[in-house]
Amino acid sequence: MQQNERVNFGSKLGAILAAAGSAVGLGNVWRFPYEAGNHGGAAFICIYLGCVFLFGLPIMISEFIIGRRSKASTGEAYQALAPHTPWRWVGYLGVLTGFLILGYYAVVAGWTLEYVLQAVIGGFDGKDSETFIRMFSEFSQHPFRPLLWLFVFVLTTHFVIVKGVKEGIERSSKVLMPLLFVLVVALAVCSVLLPGAEKGVEFLLKPDFSQVTADVFLGAMGQAFFSMSLGMGCLSTYASYFGKDTRLGATAMSVGLIDTLVAILAGLIIFPAAFSVGIQPDAGPSLIFITLPNVFQQAFSGFPLLGNVCALLFYVLLAMAALTSTISLHEVPTAFLHEKFGFTRGKAARLVTLGILVVGTVSSLALGDWGEVTLFGMNIFDFLDFFTAKIMLPLGGMMASVFVGWIIDKQVVRAEVTNDGRLKAPYYPVFLFILRYLAPVGILVIFLNELGCF
Ligand code: TRP
Repeated sequence: MQQNERVNFGSKLGAILAAAGSAVGLGNVWRFPYEAGNHGGAAFICIYLGCVFLFGLPIMISEFIIGRRSKASTGEAYQALAPHTPWRWVGYLGVLTGFLILGYYAVVAGWTLEYVLQAVIGGFDGKDSETFIRMFSEFSQHPFRPLLWLFVFVLTTHFVIVKGVKEGIERSSKVLMPLLFVLVVALAVCSVLLPGAEKGVEFLLKPDFSQVTADVFLGAMGQAFFSMSLGMGCLSTYASYFGKDTRLGATAMSVGLIDTLVAILAGLIIFPAAFSVGIQPDAGPSLIFITLPNVFQQAFSGFPLLGNVCALLFYVLLAMAALTSTISLHEVPTAFLHEKFGFTRGKAARLVTLGILVVGTVSSLALGDWGEVTLFGMNIFDFLDFFTAKIMLPLGGMMASVFVGWIIDKQVVRAEVTNDGRLKAPYYPVFLFILRYLAPVGILVIFLNELGCF
């Protein structure tokens, strides 16, 4: 650990925006709709919201505590707070998880760049939903086109990372996030007004709990962790850069609220549009890429130029949202290599970038030529997604919850939550109860349920 060298986020708002920048990304706009679509819509969303409150918010505060108290990246944080105990493995596991997530997340981030290009060259003009489906599958199975975008995206992330925490992350979050939010609201309105959109709204808002299975619970829990950037020490690494005045509880609330709102709005864009043009809501990872171009085409049918401008703006902002997330993911293994092995930040970042390019290439090809290579019946891309989001993140979150609930000195926990007694934190007893009992037991029950234990 090199405590003296650590830079801080310049302001409390900077801390919130950076954490929100990490949380809001493809998880909200790409993954949430397709998981909700795969798992029946409204009932999934209800369970998802339960997971956000029950697991997400308390675990986010826990990660903040771990990070700010240890002043170390996640790989070293557990070691710093509980020296010479096996807890350090939780930190190492987080580093690995972050790396693996990047290995497929960056592929999807690359797709957004292809769609930026298509918007520029008018590639959506005059096409129907059948053609959009074909266009996406041809692109994602192309031998090198997605790889090209993967490389562009990963190298951009690399560039921001080596420029340092403060300028790189803070500056990019500040302007673009509010802009994305405005656009997402506008598109949701457009989508709901499309002919035949009511069925999609119903799918999103009218729960049918009779269809709920163990998979739905596991999916909702995994999505909550994924979307809020929890369970691998991403936000704890950011919190190690928080100042002593940053209010942990309030920051978690703001980030959780923004993140959830963007996800629900993304659902409000996708499902009404999908039902309107006859795309199945369970189309999987391609869902937003085959549905959204329809929105831009149809909602602006009399004004094709306006549709293209809107599409361009949307994909650029989505790419930027993905970038603030990939930066936060990249930061974890980079800070770990820097602090643990004493590499310069530049060298640490180069090693991580190289690794991501390799894993990313494999998972991108898994959607095309290497599709027959499977693990547990899934191609590598789907496997990485399943294994990280549905297993590793909930496990890491459970560990963070147990660590703060049971292991760290309670005076330390209280001091962190109240900023050394300067704040009131009326939620403290509930928070502790959730960390000690509800969250760990809840996560365990969902795991056991999935395994068919009851
Ligand atoms: N939460 C981001 C999104 O929704 C992705 C992400 C960034 C993430 N950091 C993370 C997911 C850490 C899991 C863990 O797009």
